[in-house]
Amino acid sequence: MRRPEDLTKEPRMNDQTYEIHVPTGEPYAVSIGRGLIHRVGATAAACVTGRRALVVSDGNVAPLWGLPVRWSLEGAGFEVHDWTFPAGEQSKSPDMLMALIHRAAELRLSRRDLVVALGGGVTGDLAGLAAALWCRGVACLQVPTSLLAMVDSSVGGKTAVNLPAGKNLMGVFSQPVAVVCDPDVLETLPEDEYANGWAEIVKYGMLDRGVAEMLEDLPEEDSSEYPDALTALIARCVEVKRDVVAADEREGSTRALLNLGHTVGHAVERVTGYGVPHGRAVGVGLAVLTRAMVRTGRAKPEVLSRLLRLLDRFGLSAECPWGPDALLEAARADKKSTGGSVTLVLPCGWGDCRLESTRFGDFRKLLEIGIPTDAPQSC
Ligand SMILES: NC(=O)c1ccc[n+]([C@@H]2O[C@H](COP(=O)([O-])OP(=O)(O)OC[C@H]3O[C@@H](n4cnc5c(N)ncnc54)[C@H](O)[C@@H]3O)[C@@H](O)[C@H]2O)c1
Ligand SMILES: [Zn+2]
Repeated sequence: MRRPEDLTKEPRMNDQTYEIHVPTGEPYAVSIGRGLIHRVGATAAACVTGRRALVVSDGNVAPLWGLPVRWSLEGAGFEVHDWTFPAGEQSKSPDMLMALIHRAAELRLSRRDLVVALGGGVTGDLAGLAAALWCRGVACLQVPTSLLAMVDSSVGGKTAVNLPAGKNLMGVFSQPVAVVCDPDVLETLPEDEYANGWAEIVKYGMLDRGVAEMLEDLPEEDSSEYPDALTALIARCVEVKRDVVAADEREGSTRALLNLGHTVGHAVERVTGYGVPHGRAVGVGLAVLTRAMVRTGRAKPEVLSRLLRLLDRFGLSAECPWGPDALLEAARADKKSTGGSVTLVLPCGWGDCRLESTRFGDFRKLLEIGIPTDAPQSC
């Protein structure tokens, strides 16, 4: 498996194309720029010595973006095969994983060949895990097509499928060989799906003030400056994730900062039987914890008002109609809670979030304080 030559160089910015080096055990580059979907083949050719590619995509993305990727790969000399699965979280299952692995077997995909994950987080997680398992690991190129996948799931090497016992319970850490991110493909992303990405971006904003400022300064969608500003924002989010992942690839400690808003968010997903999608649930989680921090005097009121303004602008709700007991029970079942405590990421300020091991009794108090009892948008 070969990787592009310049991976060891520092990040460079070039004509609105960003190349971000992720210095994990197996380093790789994340390329972000408009029009890059047509250059997937060139990146792929620089990453592997084989010339066969299996493009994995869901039933929504394949008809929209499958062809440009196929043409680009064929142009770079690849023999292209594809495998399409029904869109949706329910496809992130062991059965679908096995179906994909059987497809790799049928093609006799070799360790010199390539799996291309073309799609949102579901595709990236499923194809990433299959690639990591098939023949003890073939190269996986991530081509994220949802806002969430661009800023979050395509980078960092977490791959998994869900089990009846819980989400993401069966998976491995396995870094992609490269990530090619073209924000222009977002033009076909359904409006509702954007909110899931915005929630993760607001989360990065609480971890990194640079992201928060870029988010607040983002031009309106109909402005001609919007596409470039969005591209720059995605790149900044990836840099934040890169820094956290590089410091702690396997979540032994500080990578847990990326779980800001997620402990409550996952609990909201669970109590609603996954009726509230991930990003929207994270938005609620950010609001509940930040409100609790303000009400206990550990953060200034402006920390919450800034958050509420951003959630509102990006169509995310801060309301939490679920009670502390239901959320606590759901959080106890989470794979990240150990014994009688859970590690929370506490937003003390923008750019000032702290990890704190919290006993469930104290967590319940925070939930009780953080869940709005009167007007939902006030502190
Ligand atoms: N591995 C990680 O580090 C990580 C991080 C965060 C989330 N995740 C996982 O990611 C998943 C959520 O990701 P998601 O929100 O991208 O879900 P998704 O992959 O289901 O995509 C959401 C929907 O948008 C559609 N879609 C995607 N791109 C499109 C485009 N350009 N045009 C038209 N339709 C498009 C998909 O077909 C799907 O219907 C969850 O399973 C979550 O657990 C993983
Ligand atoms: Zn998330």
